[in-house]
Amino acid sequence: MDPESPLIHTKHVFRAAILLLAVIGSLLLGRSLFVPDTWGEFGWYRGAAVAEHRARPVRHLGDESCAMCHDAEFAEHAAGVHAAVRCELCHGPLVLHANLEDGEKIADMPVRRSRELCELCHRKLDARPASFPQIDVREHLTEQGADLTPDACFDCHDPHSPY
Ligand code: HEC
Ligand code: HEC
Ligand code: HEC
Ligand code: HEC
Repeated sequence: MDPESPLIHTKHVFRAAILLLAVIGSLLLGRSLFVPDTWGEFGWYRGAAVAEHRARPVRHLGDESCAMCHDAEFAEHAAGVHAAVRCELCHGPLVLHANLEDGEKIADMPVRRSRELCELCHRKLDARPASFPQIDVREHLTEQGADLTPDACFDCHDPHSPY
């Protein structure tokens, strides 16, 4: 080509265009290789994840699932200040303990008779809302004339209905 021709510069444009196409091509290839098939089926997530979560076995069945065999604890708990604290949170998931279909106990349910359980929620922390009942454990026990033993709280508070 004539070195004086203005068209001499078009080859830079072609090079840039080919480079751009190569980048776009590899992005599309990468997308088809790595983005899961069901991505975007319902929204900005993998559609198949919904079915996978639904297929996971249910472990916790809520307070009502205990009522059938523990009506006394259920009634006491539902009427007290701990009504909002789920049985399975302090104990463990129902599936490990009982089978609702044949009404049989499978294995012992954990019972954490320890003040650590109570302190999990009631130990005084600056980060907790001020309106939430919380105590400085040492101070509280001293005020109440009790010793700092591992199961101190249970001498005065029933975990199912602390007042
Ligand atoms: C705040 C934690 C907490 C919650 C909520 C809770 N429990 Fe308990 N539960 C305990 C602790 C701690 C013990 C052991 C008490 C003891 O030995 O004095 C216990 C004991 C028991 C026992 C053994 C019998 C007894 O009274 O010693 C059963 C049964 C029981 N809980 C069932 C339930 C059921 C059903 C619910 C829900 C309706 C529930 N619990 C909610 C902490 C809790
Ligand atoms: C199908 C019946 C059944 C269901 C449902 C059931 N339990 Fe029990 N549970 C039992 C039996 C039987 C025992 C043996 C002690 C007794 O006679 O109360 C027991 C005992 C317990 C104990 C004392 C520790 C032990 O294992 O002996 C706790 C705590 C307990 N259950 C909590 C719960 C909680 C919380 C739920 C609900 C998530 C629940 N249970 C649901 C039948 C059941
Ligand atoms: C999972 C968190 C949780 C655990 C664990 C827990 N509690 Fe509570 N507790 C609560 C909630 C929620 C309330 C209701 C607070 C409210 O009404 O604002 C409450 C209320 C109370 C109250 C009444 C306070 C008041 O002034 O109304 C006492 C006392 C109490 N709990 C003692 C205990 C003891 C003792 C234990 C251990 C056996 C325990 N809690 C374990 C969450 C918990
Ligand atoms: C010797 C008895 C005794 C012991 C032991 C005891 N408490 Fe209390 N607790 C009380 C009494 C009485 C009250 C109500 C008077 C008050 O508000 O100070 C109370 C109140 C509370 C409150 C409500 C505080 C508020 O500001 O509303 C919480 C939470 C609590 N106790 C948790 C615990 C925990 C957790 C333990 C174990 C580390 C424990 N208590 C041990 C007798 C006791």
